[in-house]
Amino acid sequence: MRTPLVVGNWKLHLGLKDAQSLARALVQGIEPDLPCEVGVAPVFTVLQAVASVLEGSPIALCAQDLHWVDKGPYTGAVGAPFLVELGCRYVIVGHSERRQHFGENDRIVRLKVEAALRGGLAPIACVGESLTERERGEAFVVVRRQVEAIVEGLDGVERLVIAYEPVWAIGTGKVAEPQDAQAMHAAIREIVARHAGQSIANAMRILYGGSVKPENAPGLLREPDIDGALVGGASLDARSFLAIIHAVRP
Ligand code: PGA
Repeated sequence: MRTPLVVGNWKLHLGLKDAQSLARALVQGIEPDLPCEVGVAPVFTVLQAVASVLEGSPIALCAQDLHWVDKGPYTGAVGAPFLVELGCRYVIVGHSERRQHFGENDRIVRLKVEAALRGGLAPIACVGESLTERERGEAFVVVRRQVEAIVEGLDGVERLVIAYEPVWAIGTGKVAEPQDAQAMHAAIREIVARHAGQSIANAMRILYGGSVKPENAPGLLREPDIDGALVGGASLDARSFLAIIHAVRP
């Protein structure tokens, strides 16, 4: 009932030539009639070039971030209408790297989620605990706080995607055990149900992110509440990203 979603987060990698050639390899390598949606999130400066490669393919263009104001005197910022104009369908919001290196807190993440929805983009809002928080037994409390800040009284919540990305698993090669990730995904769905109703929670895609690789993807994607993946490192290589995509089973 939920269409899985697999998104490649290219982060600050791949300039014009490399981004286009990876996009081309994905378009050529993707199997027809996939049981899932696929997206890639290139650097802002190559969005348009990648969009032209993806045209006519089932791969969705995604942005890595956006500003919470649509337009105005905000040097260096990019607002939702500018992303929509390029054909973006999704935007990643509140990635832990944004929270950690750019001072984004729950309030900013919420504003960005609202801006994305207002602009017609589907936000992929990221949540996840740090290693210290997990070791202190606070993982569920932290994630609940982050999820509530996003969903409480949110207009358009049915278009929201949540990505659970434990910070200690991002780019480290340490992946959450499928049953631990499943427990957190089920908890997130329960929080969404409490705030937005059971039917919206049942329909919401909750992605796992953090060192997803072709080897661990099948185990994670088999869990009932894991509806896809947000993939960093392994999405920079066509073969490994395609292997993850093709690990999704109907
Ligand atoms: P990773 O990154 O797959 O390289 O761990 C995931 C992410 O940051 O979205």
